[in-house]
Amino acid sequence: MHSAVLFLACLPLAIQALPFAVPSGSWSSRDIPPNNREARQAARLAITYQNYLSGSPHQLLEVEEVKKASLKFVPEIGHKYYVEFTARISQTMENIGLCTATVFFQEDKPRPAINVNCSSTKIQKQANDDDYNFYKLMKSQTIPITGENIPDSFGYVDPQLEPVWNLANLGCSYVIWDKAIEGHEYNMQQIKSAKQVLRKDNLIAFDYELYLHERPSEAMVSCSVHVVWIPGKPPKVDYSCPEDSENGSGNKAEDGSAYLGNFK
Ligand SMILES: *[C@@H]1O[C@H](CO)[C@@H](O)[C@H](O)[C@H]1NC(C)=O
Ligand SMILES: *[C@@H]1O[C@H](CO)[C@@H](O)[C@H](O)[C@H]1NC(C)=O
Repeated sequence: MHSAVLFLACLPLAIQALPFAVPSGSWSSRDIPPNNREARQAARLAITYQNYLSGSPHQLLEVEEVKKASLKFVPEIGHKYYVEFTARISQTMENIGLCTATVFFQEDKPRPAINVNCSSTKIQKQANDDDYNFYKLMKSQTIPITGENIPDSFGYVDPQLEPVWNLANLGCSYVIWDKAIEGHEYNMQQIKSAKQVLRKDNLIAFDYELYLHERPSEAMVSCSVHVVWIPGKPPKVDYSCPEDSENGSGNKAEDGSAYLGNFK
């Protein structure tokens, strides 16, 4: 009882100040409350990463409830979260069962190493069909599809632009993972503009100008995101969020172009 209370009282400070302030050993791996902000962030990052890997814009998963969480301090290396949570498909709200994940924030690495296993990640037939039909429709365009303010200020998404929104979400799953730092979390908020880029190969591509919402600062971060995709494959993503480049720090590219991504 005593130690549990003490542990809870220390947690917010501990998260900020660790790992170096604490003797190793006593803190090596601890259960943390599943509704703790960091535990929920770890679960959301894990499912975002799973979405990136799955490559299906029409079957994006989200965290339903975190059931169990623990945190391991690895001295001079970083913080490793272990989380168990239930997940559902955002588009249908259908529960897909339990996922387990480790999310490892390492001091000297730019983004967390994530390992995630869900009891079911099979892309359902409807989502597969929707992915393919969207892909075919985009391939058949001779004039690029464009859209603005998705959703609009009333929260409305034109059904025709819903796949364009979903593809942006899939692309942002890479960006959100790539930008993730412990205690800072991004969500896709709104597409300012979307424009298809016609391609002669078998891929489809979009250029997006969009806003990510950052917590806990509540800041809106404006990003340019270029997404290249074919059904069944993780998206190729190039992105630039001006805050990355304006501030000298961080991972600005050497050649002056601030674009980051997984094209290499
Ligand atoms: C995921 O499954 C693999 C293979 O079974 C296992 O090695 C790994 O530890 C699991 N990871 C998590 C976080 O459950
Ligand atoms: C750079 O970072 C500092 C400290 O985080 C912040 O106060 C400032 O607004 C940032 N500047 C720009 C141009 O983003």
